[in-house]
Amino acid sequence: ARVVVMISGSGSNMVALAKAAAEPGFPAEIVGVISDKRAAGGLAKAEAVGLPTAALERRDFDSKAAHEAAVLETLERFAPDLICLAGYMRLLSGAFIQRYEGRILNIHPSLLPLYPGLHTHARAIEAGEAEAGCTVHFVTEGMDEGPAILQARVPVLPGDTPETLAARVLVEEHRIYPKALALVAEGAVRMPR
Ligand code: GRF
Repeated sequence: ARVVVMISGSGSNMVALAKAAAEPGFPAEIVGVISDKRAAGGLAKAEAVGLPTAALERRDFDSKAAHEAAVLETLERFAPDLICLAGYMRLLSGAFIQRYEGRILNIHPSLLPLYPGLHTHARAIEAGEAEAGCTVHFVTEGMDEGPAILQARVPVLPGDTPETLAARVLVEEHRIYPKALALVAEGAVRMPR
């Protein structure tokens, strides 16, 4: 399967996906990386491993719709079978999601349905959770609410800060995202109707 990874930041999940996809027998290949931020650190990492990249800076467009049209046009050129959102910090419109219905994956740093949205680690610590984690899920129109594909749990330790917890979760993100992508790419898992 042809996969485009969409990023906005450091791209560590994109790197994990690219490394896994480079393994012989992996059922997907990363054909491109798209960022909505020209300064995303992940762009340099993608280029360092020879992946084609495209930066579509939101502020270069005069509307969300114009920006998304440019993203969709760039996606068409890569002709992906699947899209992996990896630290992509922009909501996709219903039209975008319908265009790739059931073929967009995202990684979210919480045990969904707990803690959708932002600042998930601070909220989990604040709530006194004993566990935290991450979820790879299919993307639907609602934010962070599509069917889960894989989850991983980590303990919340005494004295954890959002940063120490984030670092512990990120290790698991890098482990489960490639596994989830492989499951979907080989057809073992598909989005429930
Ligand atoms: C990660 O916590 C990921 O779960 C969230 O963005 C953070 C940074 O991801 N979506 P990355 O290093 O840009 O992949």
